[in-house]
Amino acid sequence: MKPKVLVTRVIPDAGLKRIQQVCEADIWPEVMPPPYSVLKERARGVDGLLCLITDRVDGDLLDAIGPQLKVISQMAVGVDNIDLNAARVRQIPVGHTPGVLTEATADLAFALLLAAGRRLLESVEYIRAGKWRTWEPTTLLGADFSGATLGIVGLGRIGKAVARRAAGFDMRLLAYNPTMTADEAAAVHARLVDFDTLLRESDFISIHTPLTPQTRGLFNRDVLAKMKPTAILVNTARGPIVEMEALYNALTTGVIRAAALDVTDPEPLPPDSPLLSLPNLTIVPHIGSASVWTRDQMALMAAENLIAGVTGRPLPHAVSQ
Ligand code: GLV
Repeated sequence: MKPKVLVTRVIPDAGLKRIQQVCEADIWPEVMPPPYSVLKERARGVDGLLCLITDRVDGDLLDAIGPQLKVISQMAVGVDNIDLNAARVRQIPVGHTPGVLTEATADLAFALLLAAGRRLLESVEYIRAGKWRTWEPTTLLGADFSGATLGIVGLGRIGKAVARRAAGFDMRLLAYNPTMTADEAAAVHARLVDFDTLLRESDFISIHTPLTPQTRGLFNRDVLAKMKPTAILVNTARGPIVEMEALYNALTTGVIRAAALDVTDPEPLPPDSPLLSLPNLTIVPHIGSASVWTRDQMALMAAENLIAGVTGRPLPHAVSQ
C-alpha cells in the first residue's frame, strides 16, 4: 500500500509528479490555503504532510493527524509557521528547501533596493498621472548606489548572495550577524559590526534573518530612529521582523527616506492599510522565491524530503530541531 500524504496546495509538477509516483496524494485544490480546522480534518491519518508557510503546524494539528505521521516537509526555507519543538517531542522530522531559493531571493532584494532607491514606483505613478512633460533636472532624484553603504542584517546564504551583488555596484558592506566570524564576513567583503553601528552608518539596510523570538519586532520605533534620515530599508525575510506601525510612522515623518517590502505583517495587508498608499513604500506580495526554476527546485526538494520521510529514510534537507 502506498503511503498517504496531504499536499496543502497545488505545487509545481516537478514535485507533484514525483510524489504521485510513490504516494497516495491528497492535494488541496484551492487557491487559498486550507483553514486550520479543515487542515486538521483533512490531514487525519496521513503518513506525510507537505505544507507551505501559510499553514500553521502546531502540536494540536500533529495530534489530530495521529502518531503514524512520519514527516513534515515544508516547501520553503523558513519554517517559523511550524512549531519545531512540538515536532521534535513527537520525533517527527521536518524538511525544508534551503539553497535553491538563495539567488532568486537575493535578486529580489536587490530589485527592491534599486526600486526604492531610484523611486521606480513613484516614477511609474508620475507618468500614469500625466505629469511627465519634459526631461526635468531636479525631479524624482533618488539615491546613489556606488560608494554607498549597505548594511546586511543576517549574513547567511541569502545575505551573502546580496553581498555579492552589492560588490558589483561598488557598495561598502557592513553586516550584523552575532554568530559569524569576521573572516567569514570578509569572504564576501563585508565588515562585521554591532547592530547600532550598522544602523548608524548604512545608507541601505537589507534584512535576511529568520523570524525568531529575538528578531520579532527587531525594527521597532527606537531602531528605525537610529537609521539615517536618508536611509532605505528592504525586508525580504519575514514581515514581523519590522513593526508595521513604526515603519508607517518613520516613512511619514521623515525618520527614514523609503522602504520596500516583500513580506508584511499580516500577510496580505488589509486592502485599506495606510501602508499601501505611501509613495515611499514599495510592497510586493512575497515573491522572493517566485522564479520558474526556483519554484520547480523547491517543489522537487520538498517532494524528496516527503518521500524520504514516508519511506523511513533520513530527510536529505532536514531542519535541525
Ligand atoms: C519563503 O518565504 C521561504 O521561506 O522559502
